[in-house]
Amino acid sequence: MEENILVKLAKIGSMVDPYMEKYLKSNCSEEFEEIALYQVKVGGKRVRPALVILSAQAAGGKIEDALPVAAAVELIHNYSLILDDIIDRGEIRRGAPTVWKKYGLSMAILAAVHYREAIAEALNDSKHPLKLHDLLAKTMKTLVEGERLDVLFEQTGRFDEPYVVENRRKTVTLDEYFKMVYAKTGALIEASCRAGGIVADAIPEVIEALGVYGKNIGIAFQIADDIIDIFGKEEKTGKAQGKDIIEHKMGNIVILLSLEELKNDEKEFLSSLLRKEPISKEELAKAIELIAGTSARDRAYEIGERYLNEALQMLEKLPDSDARRDLEQLAKFILYRMF
Ligand code: IPE
Ligand code: IPE
Ligand code: MG
Ligand code: MG
Ligand code: MG
Repeated sequence: MEENILVKLAKIGSMVDPYMEKYLKSNCSEEFEEIALYQVKVGGKRVRPALVILSAQAAGGKIEDALPVAAAVELIHNYSLILDDIIDRGEIRRGAPTVWKKYGLSMAILAAVHYREAIAEALNDSKHPLKLHDLLAKTMKTLVEGERLDVLFEQTGRFDEPYVVENRRKTVTLDEYFKMVYAKTGALIEASCRAGGIVADAIPEVIEALGVYGKNIGIAFQIADDIIDIFGKEEKTGKAQGKDIIEHKMGNIVILLSLEELKNDEKEFLSSLLRKEPISKEELAKAIELIAGTSARDRAYEIGERYLNEALQMLEKLPDSDARRDLEQLAKFILYRMF
């Protein structure tokens, strides 16, 4: 199964990448081009443009109509990653240095602004540009709110940021977690599916079904990302193992569920580690071992499966097609991937 969907993702990537390149190169100085292109050239699974294209096809639309907006959503994703790595101080992504790590903070901020404008240019070339601008502006603002909450769920650090220090959450409920992950990750995945429906001129019921599918796999996507963060190997994920612990994140479902389960000393060890800066390699390894000893990983998958099933049910509202079957495969890949 995974093989097929990976081939599909690669194929879609090869169609969308030239569009992303076109918009990143437009109105770009020759000297800045390397920096502007770096984040998209270094890798990425291209899940979001695949969702746009397959949603458009499943709604009876044409692939050509979906390509500019597919490029736009992948640019939005990459734009958010450049910013997320600045915010999280992430040093490696896609198995390579992050944009700020490679080119410095000033250039990374400029790259992010450049992406934002490339996104506008791509949307101007899409079908129904006003509708899409509107949808994606709203989505981007939701993503900002998700990132704000994610930062406030951190247990220490950012001592030079009084707003964060004053508003930090000491505890995080599962409800708060789901609100945060829908906002930071789910909303863009939902919007990718809706955008596919829009360029296919689908009826509102079909766009709604695609949106609910997207919202559910979007949350499952972040659950998988959280699991992979703790248990995935850097060689495969291209990101540092356990970085959410290093970054003091309470907004990781595996960390939240294991804190629920651990008792006494072990619970105190993990909670105090999230409040410790910096932590050693040995402490990180011990924390991962402790988490692995709980049922947090299995429970996270169980919860992810509920979202996956909701998503699959929505697909039944669409007529049977190759694209609909691909959306089904993609949903399963999103939860069970290891990278
Ligand atoms: C990573 O997204 C950031 C999250 C929203 C969890 P992806 O896992 O899609 O990253 P790439 O594009 O494949 O690198
Ligand atoms: C990603 O959140 C959400 C974005 C809006 C980019 P993470 O902080 O979990 O993403 P990774 O793990 O660094 O890719
Ligand atoms: Mg991050
Ligand atoms: Mg983050
Ligand atoms: Mg993550």
